[in-house]
Amino acid sequence: MKVLVTAASRHSSTREIAAEIAATIRAQGIECDHREPAEVKDLLGYDAVVLGSAIYVGQWLGDAKDFADRLAPQLRERKVWLFSSGLANQPSKEANNTPALAARVQQVGAEGHKHFPGKLDVLQLSLAERAAIMAARGKYGDSRDMSVVRGWAMAIASEVSSVNAS
Ligand SMILES: Cc1cc2nc3c(=O)[nH]c(=O)nc-3n(C[C@H](O)[C@H](O)[C@H](O)COP(=O)(O)O)c2cc1C
Repeated sequence: MKVLVTAASRHSSTREIAAEIAATIRAQGIECDHREPAEVKDLLGYDAVVLGSAIYVGQWLGDAKDFADRLAPQLRERKVWLFSSGLANQPSKEANNTPALAARVQQVGAEGHKHFPGKLDVLQLSLAERAAIMAARGKYGDSRDMSVVRGWAMAIASEVSSVNAS
């Protein structure tokens, strides 16, 4: 049983969430790769996939959308979990629950979708991004809770192991 964890990230905080998920799955004795979405050409050799993206202006980043579009037929043949990472409150996390995300779950036959609060570091943002955050009255800071991320990854690891055992 081998798992792929892949996530689109602009300023690294979602990449770090993906790395934590991969490390947690590996710690359960399951083979697991963490790769960039654009690097992955096919899913041969993988039995399950965790796909994530940072959310910008209510949408997944292009690399994650492209991954799902390119590999949808292969994803539908595997166990798939989706996650997004964005601001906790501003815009509200409900605003990220778009029909587009629900359509992604359908497209790849995912087990479900999990939203994680993200991180906004003023020093990492472009001027245009700072202006957008100011206009949206977004709050800077790191809202990630890696213990929640690890808990979600443990649940995936346990499901993957139970499929393996049956
Ligand atoms: C210009 C801009 C737009 C954003 N739009 C959203 C949004 O619509 N919804 C959301 O939840 N978070 C939004 N965010 C917050 C990012 O999703 C959050 O900072 C995330 O953790 C960034 O991930 P990354 O470091 O992997 O790029 C936005 C951030 C910026 C800078």
